Amino acid sequence: MTAPTDDIMIQASGLTHFYGPQPAIDDVNFNVKRGEILGFLGPNGAGKTTTMRILTGYMPPTQGQVTIGGHDVVKDSLQVRKLVGYLPETVPLYTEMPVTNYLRYMGSLRGMNNRELKRRIPDVIELCRLNDYSKTIIGKLSKGYRQRVGIAQAILHEPELLVMDEPTIGIDPIQVVETRRLIQDLGKQQTVVLSSHILPEVSMVCERVLIIHQGHIVAEDTPENLAQTLQGVDQLQVEINGPPREVSIALRNIEGVIDVNHRNQPDREVYLVRSEEGLDLRDEISRIIVSNGWGLLSMQLMSMSLEDIFLRLTTDEDSQE
Ligand SMILES: Nc1ncnc2c1ncn2[C@@H]1O[C@H](COP(=O)(O)OP(=O)(O)O)[C@@H](O)[C@H]1O
Ligand SMILES: [Mg+2]
Repeated sequence: MTAPTDDIMIQASGLTHFYGPQPAIDDVNFNVKRGEILGFLGPNGAGKTTTMRILTGYMPPTQGQVTIGGHDVVKDSLQVRKLVGYLPETVPLYTEMPVTNYLRYMGSLRGMNNRELKRRIPDVIELCRLNDYSKTIIGKLSKGYRQRVGIAQAILHEPELLVMDEPTIGIDPIQVVETRRLIQDLGKQQTVVLSSHILPEVSMVCERVLIIHQGHIVAEDTPENLAQTLQGVDQLQVEINGPPREVSIALRNIEGVIDVNHRNQPDREVYLVRSEEGLDLRDEISRIIVSNGWGLLSMQLMSMSLEDIFLRLTTDEDSQE
C-alpha cells in the first residue's frame, strides 16, 4: 500500500471553483503525502470548505483535477469514496437515533456488511471515546460529543484519508483539547487533512500548513516556522564588506538582535539580522560596522509580506466565532 513510488495521497492541480461570477478558489495546487497531517488555515470565506468538498468528491471543481491515491475524484468517485472519510462543516446527524444505530446506518449506506459493522463499530466507539454514550440518542449529546460521532462515522469504513472541515468549531475548550488529541491519534494511522481559521489549532495538530486567503494559497510552511514569523520580529538585510566570522559575532552582540543569518552570495556578504519588533537597529549596526573599519554596502528593512499580515490577523485564538 505504501510503495515508495506511490507516496502521494492527494494531488490537486489547478482547482478553481465558481459559485457566481467571482471564483471561490482560484488555481489551487498542492500535494499531500501519505501519512501526513496537513492543515488548511484561512479566515472565513477563504475557500477552505469549497476545497474540502472538492477533495472528497462531494462537488466537482469548475476547473482542475484532484486525484486521491491515484484515482480521479470525479471520474472514479466510487473508488474515492472508499478511500476518503469526510467530516463536513456541519455533520448531518440523525438526532433521534442512538449513537450505535446511527453508525450502523451510516456504515450500511457505505456498503459495509453486517460482519464488518460488528467488528468495526466497537472499534470506532472506543477510538472516539464514546463508550459511555453508545446507546445515547444523538440529540442529547453535547456538541463536543456529537462531533466525536461525526468523526466516528467518517472513519467507520477505515478510509486511508480523513478530511475534516473545522473539526473543533463551536465546541467547548475541554472538548477542543480532547478532539485535537483524537485527531493526532488518528493521524498516526492515516493521512489527515483538516481546516481551521485559527493558527494555534493547526500548529498543535499539523505537520504542514497551507494558508489560504481569498481563494489562493498564499503560504506553505511548518507550524514551527509560522510561529517564528509571528513572534514579532523585524528583519534587516545588511550587506557588509568584512570578515564574516567577526561580522556575525559583532552583529549578534548588539542588544535586541535575536538572530543573524549569514548568506554567502557570489561577490557579496549578506546578513539577515532579526530583531525584536519595533526596535530600529539601523543606527547601531552602522556605527559598529564603521567603528570596526568594515564597509557597509547596503541596509534594507524587510517589510512584512501580505502573508505575515494575514497571519497576524488570524492568529488570535479568541477570534474563534
Ligand atoms: N453554496 C455557495 N453559494 C455561493 N457562494 C458560496 C457558496 N459556498 C461558499 N461560497 C462563497 O465562496 C467563498 C469561499 O467559501 P468557503 O469555501 O465556504 O470558505 P471557508 O470555508 O474558508 O469559510 C466565499 O466567498 C463564500 O461566500
Ligand atoms: Mg468553511
